[in-house]
Amino acid sequence: MSGTPSTPASPPDGDDAAAGKSFRTPIGTHDLAPPESGRWVALLGTFIGLADRAGFGYLQTPIFEDIGVFARIGEGTDVVGKEMYEFFDRSDRHLALRPECTASVCRAFAQHRPTTPWKVWYQGPFFRYEAPQAGRYRQFHQIGAETLGTDDADADVEIIALAAEFFHSIGLQRVPLLVNSMGDADTRAAYGEALSTYLQQRAGDVDPEDRDKIERHPLRILDSKRAATEAVAAEAPQITDYLNAETAAHFERVREGLTALGIEHRVEPKLVRGLDYYTRTTFEFRAASLDAAQDTVCGGGRYNGLVEALGGPPTPGIGFALGIERLLLACDAEGVFDVPTQRAEVWVIDTAGGAAARDLTHELRSVGIRADRAFDDRSMRAQMRAADRSGAEIALIVGTDEIDAGTVTVRPLRRPDGGSTGMAQQTVPHADLLGTLRRIFDELNAEGGT
Ligand code: HAM
Repeated sequence: MSGTPSTPASPPDGDDAAAGKSFRTPIGTHDLAPPESGRWVALLGTFIGLADRAGFGYLQTPIFEDIGVFARIGEGTDVVGKEMYEFFDRSDRHLALRPECTASVCRAFAQHRPTTPWKVWYQGPFFRYEAPQAGRYRQFHQIGAETLGTDDADADVEIIALAAEFFHSIGLQRVPLLVNSMGDADTRAAYGEALSTYLQQRAGDVDPEDRDKIERHPLRILDSKRAATEAVAAEAPQITDYLNAETAAHFERVREGLTALGIEHRVEPKLVRGLDYYTRTTFEFRAASLDAAQDTVCGGGRYNGLVEALGGPPTPGIGFALGIERLLLACDAEGVFDVPTQRAEVWVIDTAGGAAARDLTHELRSVGIRADRAFDDRSMRAQMRAADRSGAEIALIVGTDEIDAGTVTVRPLRRPDGGSTGMAQQTVPHADLLGTLRRIFDELNAEGGT
């Protein structure tokens, strides 16, 4: 087995195929396969419905961009400073795999100059070189939404409501919403100074692992998960005390809107988020069911200077991104949004060589029936077992007798709830097949409902 001490050293890359070497997914990445993948498809479908109703269109940006696009997230942040997958292509362009999408959305806005408000949603893989653990991966997947071109506090409410509605739709209940305001550039400067002064006084109490941040990035002290640092952060000056009249009024209007829509929230003045571009509103939904180190299922906020920093006109923006893997961990913990069952309704058994199964499954699928079959000309018994395993409600049996007579044998197998049908099998002319199937489905569903 590969990886055991007795395994000889790997052959050079070019010889891998010849040597029959087996490969695994890189650390921190996963394959997504059925049936779990059915859950992702359903999750996306639910989000698409909500985003569409709220007027958001789908945006797809490249998986890699010029590294400068992501530098604007903040050189001092972990995401840019420590975790970015960067590389030079064959023409020496310095590129990076996207660690998040907001910078790409702003780059796209600056490039295409669409009319505003520009309301877009996105989904896909993102990459951060982090230490993998449950809920933290090197390739993870986000769904997000952004509104560019308005500073209206109601746009903040609309964005937060979209995320809240999504959680509600998939049945998640224990995801409290925390909100804060980072004010504007003046607020950040004044607050940054007050925070630095305070942290320098308390430097001795800060966890040694966090001490270098006091100089380098004092805001990052506030979201440390280390107990000693948390105790210092708890007594730190609060940014909400440094808001000017305009940003305070904006924040008040956001909170008023959330309350009007019945969206419960709590103000958390330490919520400064891990990316540098935020101004005014910031927010997070944290899953009470997950471990505190990875409990943020959705984070977002305003970034009124980012489009300009990427060469576009001054353009305010607000958005969020949620981590699909983490969201599904929270669903598991709450026992909601199960893997959907994806079973055939009709299973075709062909004991005469397979051509009838080929044609019948095609015919049934073309009228919207989920039909399937076994391959490789298996025995009647093996095909019957496959039909049973499939969970299909009806088996269609075609042998040489049926082919000669132009008929199909219809055998009800089970009701939709799995119960037995008590219905006898019947052989019908091919021309009557669809009508017969409809009648049987109606009967099975009616019985299932009683
Ligand atoms: P973020 O907080 O860096 O924000 O990431 C958003 C979410 O992505 C996190 O709350 C988490 O659920 C998920 N996530 C992040 N890193 C990982 C990882 N390594 N493994 C698994 N899940 C992860 C942003 O990305 C901003 N672009 C959000 C935003 C949009 N702000 C304004 N608009």
